Amino acid sequence: MIEEPLPTGAAKAAAVREMFDRIAPRYDALNRLFSLGLDQRWRRRALDLIEVGPSDRIIDLACGTGDLVELAETRGAQVVGVDFARQMLHGAQRRQTKARFVQCDGARLPFRTASATVVTCGFALRNFVSLPHVFVELARVLEPGGRVALIDVDRPRSSMLRIGHSLYFDRVVPWVGGVLSDRSAYRYLPRSTAYLPPAPELLRSIEAAGFSRSERSTLMGGAAQIITAVRAERT
Ligand SMILES: C[S@@+](CC[C@H](N)C(=O)[O-])C[C@H]1O[C@@H](n2cnc3c(N)ncnc32)[C@H](O)[C@@H]1O
Repeated sequence: MIEEPLPTGAAKAAAVREMFDRIAPRYDALNRLFSLGLDQRWRRRALDLIEVGPSDRIIDLACGTGDLVELAETRGAQVVGVDFARQMLHGAQRRQTKARFVQCDGARLPFRTASATVVTCGFALRNFVSLPHVFVELARVLEPGGRVALIDVDRPRSSMLRIGHSLYFDRVVPWVGGVLSDRSAYRYLPRSTAYLPPAPELLRSIEAAGFSRSERSTLMGGAAQIITAVRAERT
């Protein structure tokens, strides 16, 4: 079957927003199912890597239904969740948190320069229209020494793992997702990994935006990744 080319620019933003608004009601349940319950462990790992604690003021970028917001709050941090999909934010607002939620584009955050100590982002990098622009915006809102932890899916490097992973991610997930939620959304999910630049380019792009000490950890044989970095001193 010939697939439609993946959208770019404004068409991508509109398609992504509409898609998440559509799948919001079952988003959490399918996340747990497709990650075999590991997605929450990966979010906790991201918070551990950057040592989130009670003194942190966190912006959770593309917060969706608020999983990371809730986990960060249990560590005593003050959290604001931002997302551009209204239905995902409604899901987040239904949680018992003290967090504030703001509907906006991740590339234009309505926050003061250097107002946050941490930015987190779960599974959304491949959905942004321009990652370099988002990274520059994150560098702006973080104070010097502020930390970022960005989680996303990836594809394993080892050829054996790649075959098993592809069978699951490219065949089983779209099929089950189609039955339980939305066919086109869960076909887009594996295809959207094509938007992610290779790891060295991703790290270079973060550093170019004003971060230092960028590192990448892989999870489950490379099926997921966490990028961390520290906001460099302003020059
Ligand atoms: C895969 S979901 C991840 C949600 C949540 N972070 C999590 O860990 O489950 C991706 C989210 O990114 C949001 N998103 C994508 N592009 C965005 C943008 N440009 N600005 C704000 N939110 C965006 C979507 O609306 C969606 O809620």
